[in-house]
Amino acid sequence: MAVTGGSELSDDLSSVGLESDFSELRDSVSALRLESGLQHADTSSERRSEVGNRTIEFHHSAKDPIDLVKLMDVKHRQAGGETHRSLDEKSFSEIMNFPETAVRPPRALETVKSSECLEGMVSPGIRANSSSSTSQPRPQTTFEPNAMISSAWEALRKSLVHFRGKPVGTLAACDPTEDSLNYNQVFVRDFVPSGLAFLMNGEPEIVKNFLLKALRLQSWEKHIDCFTLGEGVMPASFKVLHDPSRKFDTMIADFGESAIGRVAPVDSGFWWIILLRAYVKSTGDHSLADMSDCQRGMRLILTLCLSDGFDTFPTLLCADGCCMIDRRMGIYGYPIEIQSLFFMALRCARFLLRPEAGGKEFLERIDKRLHALSFHIRTYYWLDHQQLNNIYRYKTEEYSQTAVNKFNVIPDSIPDWLFDWMPMKGGYFIGNVSPARMDFRWFTIGNCVAILSSLSTPDQSSAIMDLIEERWEELVGFMPLKVCYPALESREWQITTGCDPKNTRWSYHNGGSWPVLLWMLTAASIKTGRPQIARKAIELMEARLMKDGWPEYYDGKLGRYIGKQARKFQTWSIAGYLVSKMMLEDPSHLGMISLEEDRKMKPSLTRSVSF
Ligand code: GLC
Repeated sequence: MAVTGGSELSDDLSSVGLESDFSELRDSVSALRLESGLQHADTSSERRSEVGNRTIEFHHSAKDPIDLVKLMDVKHRQAGGETHRSLDEKSFSEIMNFPETAVRPPRALETVKSSECLEGMVSPGIRANSSSSTSQPRPQTTFEPNAMISSAWEALRKSLVHFRGKPVGTLAACDPTEDSLNYNQVFVRDFVPSGLAFLMNGEPEIVKNFLLKALRLQSWEKHIDCFTLGEGVMPASFKVLHDPSRKFDTMIADFGESAIGRVAPVDSGFWWIILLRAYVKSTGDHSLADMSDCQRGMRLILTLCLSDGFDTFPTLLCADGCCMIDRRMGIYGYPIEIQSLFFMALRCARFLLRPEAGGKEFLERIDKRLHALSFHIRTYYWLDHQQLNNIYRYKTEEYSQTAVNKFNVIPDSIPDWLFDWMPMKGGYFIGNVSPARMDFRWFTIGNCVAILSSLSTPDQSSAIMDLIEERWEELVGFMPLKVCYPALESREWQITTGCDPKNTRWSYHNGGSWPVLLWMLTAASIKTGRPQIARKAIELMEARLMKDGWPEYYDGKLGRYIGKQARKFQTWSIAGYLVSKMMLEDPSHLGMISLEEDRKMKPSLTRSVSF
């Protein structure tokens, strides 16, 4: 990244010698103001100071300075006497309304045994339902849960990255046997399960440090060649450089310019907002989100995705590879992963934004967009047996005003695999909808986040879970969980991926199985009242994941082979497992990453329903 004053800024700041990044920054701002003759008046917008041949951008407001005292005085409050009750004692709405004041103390998780905690959690109706997948793979090995949990915590802690003495994130992977490439960086999306694990374990400090660090990186001026990126773009990843001789740390960040194909991470900003809400929900501490810098960071992210353009849809137009699938995989256009994350981030921002200081206008725009987005996705992305039949019989060349086939999708473009694969019971949000193009592939993150954010209606959510049960072998197989289904093969693989040798069929992003996705499946299972789905998936994982060295992904139609180029000790595989275990043990954790349906947003479903 051609960051003007980027890592050099860190050098300058280190000489200030203060503990807090923000105090360093603020003091440096003052020093630089003196140097460059800037006055303190009217500094509500960004500033630019020249130091030597370096340009440094500042986004702090002198009228609205960082409330350091408030920030530093925020104490991690002790547990308010909330005892752990199992799911059968708590209603789901109680779980979802997890009180903002409830704070958890650190716990000895090594004692947790989720399979036992879950006994009692399954309702009779759910039990009757679960027969559909009994013939599926079962774990073969005897398993020692406590050893796996403690080993996971140990590995997670080993991945911690420190910046000037404070933990600020976790490395993507700590595989001693492989060339680290960029896996020795802190990825924003990868940190989410780590952050949730720490929050659930009553250790919120690292999450706060991470959020502040990412926020500060957002304020860098970002260039690729001669082009300047939008102010709100959050980094895909960052790296701390330790200089042992000078005894201080600097930082570099990647906003997409180093990534394969130079695509900016659209998901990073959304995950940042989602994690900020999780922090607030978990700690009951609003002071971090209320800081003017956090409010501003959120507004900048929202500015990027709520601005007017040539759009005819409320969905967000994206380049290929802009999210977890960060290589060319034919997800350009309006990928469901981004739309679900966009929706969830908007709902989280609605909860976090303060109406004053420009927030009110954003709140109004958010409400309008949420309404339009939920209608669009619930209506046009939904696919079940009946809707597939409708599309199969579509006429083409209709004008949109009166058209049934709004996007002029040609029925011949429906892929053959889908006709047999679509169960009679269940449904899902397809991968992408745009003019004359429906990507019918299944994508796990998009569908799970749709459930967690209540983008899907309750009926759609349970239909998605039905589909997972009905198609267990294909989506879960021996290792949860397929990132997408099915794989692209032969000529289609050549054209769509550009002959990508890492994304060959049933590998990596192309139909590979990613253990990290377990935490989202677990959360969705609990939210829909079907925790036995998560329990089955966890059992499969426990049979292999630790034994295999916590790989990043698995290959093969059934996920039976450790991925060809998979890193071992992949942090989000480890953290995803821990988060799943903790959520099953105490389902009230779900409130951190789940939102209840907003009844105001209920659209009339004009399409078929599978229920
Ligand atoms: C791979 C994944 C990406 C992840 C990164 C670090 O590139 O596709 O989603 O963030 O590895 O683990």
